[in-house]
Amino acid sequence: MRYYISDLGKYVGQEVVLKGWVYQTRSSGKVKFLELRDGTGVVSCVFFKGDCSEETFVRFDQLTQECSLTLTGMVRKHPKQENVYEIGVKDFELIGTSKDYPISPKEHGTEFLMDNRHLWIRSKRQHAIMRIRHEIVMAIRDFFDGRGFTLTDSPIFTPSACEGTTNLFETKYFDEKMYLSQSGQLYVEATSKAFGKVYCFGPTFRAEKSKTRRHLIEFWMVEPEVAFNDMYENMDLAEQFVEYIVQRCIKNRPEEFKALERDMSKLAPIVAPFPRLHYREAVDIILKENPAFIPGDDFGAPDETIVSSKFDRPVFVHHFPQAIKAFYMKEDPKDPGFAMGSDLLAPEGYGEVIGGGQREESIEKLLKKIEEHKLNEKDFQWYLDLRRYGSTPSSGFGLGLERAVTWICGLPHVRETIPFPRLYGRSYP
Ligand code: 4AD
Ligand code: MG
Repeated sequence: MRYYISDLGKYVGQEVVLKGWVYQTRSSGKVKFLELRDGTGVVSCVFFKGDCSEETFVRFDQLTQECSLTLTGMVRKHPKQENVYEIGVKDFELIGTSKDYPISPKEHGTEFLMDNRHLWIRSKRQHAIMRIRHEIVMAIRDFFDGRGFTLTDSPIFTPSACEGTTNLFETKYFDEKMYLSQSGQLYVEATSKAFGKVYCFGPTFRAEKSKTRRHLIEFWMVEPEVAFNDMYENMDLAEQFVEYIVQRCIKNRPEEFKALERDMSKLAPIVAPFPRLHYREAVDIILKENPAFIPGDDFGAPDETIVSSKFDRPVFVHHFPQAIKAFYMKEDPKDPGFAMGSDLLAPEGYGEVIGGGQREESIEKLLKKIEEHKLNEKDFQWYLDLRRYGSTPSSGFGLGLERAVTWICGLPHVRETIPFPRLYGRSYP
């Protein structure tokens, strides 16, 4: 029988055996305390002569931060706190020693913590972030699975670019030149013609030589694609999706948000519909605070912050200039020069969390775009087949998982949102 700290409420008055690691120890002469963590929670274990033997009481002093042990004791209600339990220790057995654990409760610099990411991940704060990340992943899957979408994952080795060639990771596929996927989109466009509503969810790669608080080199993206959807239906789907994720985290992860001291009043209003601005309207807002902005350009992080600061929930910016968008984006016949795509900007300055839109369905226009973007037509024959055989309007989007976790957790940097981040200048551990 395995007992876990998260279940202790069921065993009050009973003896249990716990297996875990020492989070902290503290001693006040007659009573000694150990905070034990087992991955499901942390529990205070009290060593008191009489409950445990003299020998066990003395052996307590061998316990060091992060050593592993098996511990036997009685479950009690905490004398002061509701729904908190403690263990009256009877005995313990040391399993793995831990000498000079490098991460002490004192403050450490970020680089040091990043070098020790494999250990840092054990801390309470990292624990809270990873649990929220997991909740978001479950919410993503449940949202699509519950709406008739089929999961069709895209390959990671790809022979061509999807999001431009400047940040493409080149690798080898035996003797052939190959790239790591920047996005699974082109492949879900194909599967959407087979299954109607599909999504892929996997790692994607961008060789971006920038050290910002938003950029990872390797990140996870979920990408739904729906045959026959237009750009407006695509925004409807995206806003329902984001509302679902946020509201589910609020409901299921209150303890974790508390540990992160997240201001929940900023998450509560995340309910659809979200405001929608044409690029031109967003530019008008930006120019008032950043007169140096050149209309026609893409938004920088400060520009996104200016726009999002006007709203208490995420805001769509749609109809970006065609010239700054990817080759597959459909130009709006009613608004020439502008693309039928939208970005979703998170509140509180967290920036773009979703990018997506309607795909060009005409083969002639696509061929022209492929040429303009200096892509190799040969690599795209299969993609062009989707226009040759039963072309449809098609829309979808990509949500960057780590950007979403950063925002929902209210973190200053994306690096803490993935167990082992790959950043420009960091690929260890
Ligand atoms: O806007 P992006 O480049 O869009 C696409 O890749 C489309 N093909 C998606 C689609 O329509 N199926 O990327 C989508 C999202 C961004 O909004 C952002 O959240 C995230 O992916 N993202 C990154 N996250 C972390 N680090 C990076 N370097 C990222 N680049 C994009
Ligand atoms: Mg984008």
